[in-house]
Amino acid sequence: MHKAYFALALFGLLALAQSEGDTGLAEAGSYTPGPLGQITQPLPTPAGEGSVYRVGAYPLYTPELADGPGKDLVQGYCQVCHSTTYITMQPPLPAATWQAEVTKMINTYGAQIPEDAAKAITAYLQAHYTPETRK
Ligand code: HEC
Repeated sequence: MHKAYFALALFGLLALAQSEGDTGLAEAGSYTPGPLGQITQPLPTPAGEGSVYRVGAYPLYTPELADGPGKDLVQGYCQVCHSTTYITMQPPLPAATWQAEVTKMINTYGAQIPEDAAKAITAYLQAHYTPETRK
């Protein structure tokens, strides 16, 4: 009879050991607030005597647009919200995509561009920035 009690006790101990393992798992998922709201950064390198601290111009580089009819319209209408780098940084895009881009600027982003100017701009982009025409 006492053999059965012994087995039961052993089983209990095993169960306890098992649950302690589970406790460890539970802790792994509970996060303490820690140093919330603190942003830490490394200390600046101490400047030696005679050090010179120089700040240059921020490197903003907008490539020149291709020359051709409509360039002035692009510069006038398309630079209201962003630089023309948005055009030059694109890979060569199919003519239909440029058409869609101009339409998107007007319909989605609210660019105020008269219809004839929009047509001329689209023609300009298609004449210089498609896989066939881009230099
Ligand atoms: C009313 C503001 C506005 C005007 C004017 C405007 N754009 Fe945009 N353009 C945006 C916004 C907003 C985005 C997308 C947001 C971003 O990526 O910064 C964008 C993104 C672009 C992109 C990146 C590709 C894309 O679809 O997101 C191109 C190319 C572009 N514009 C071309 C043009 C051209 C060409 C014109 C002139 C016809 C023009 N934009 C005029 C607001 C404008």
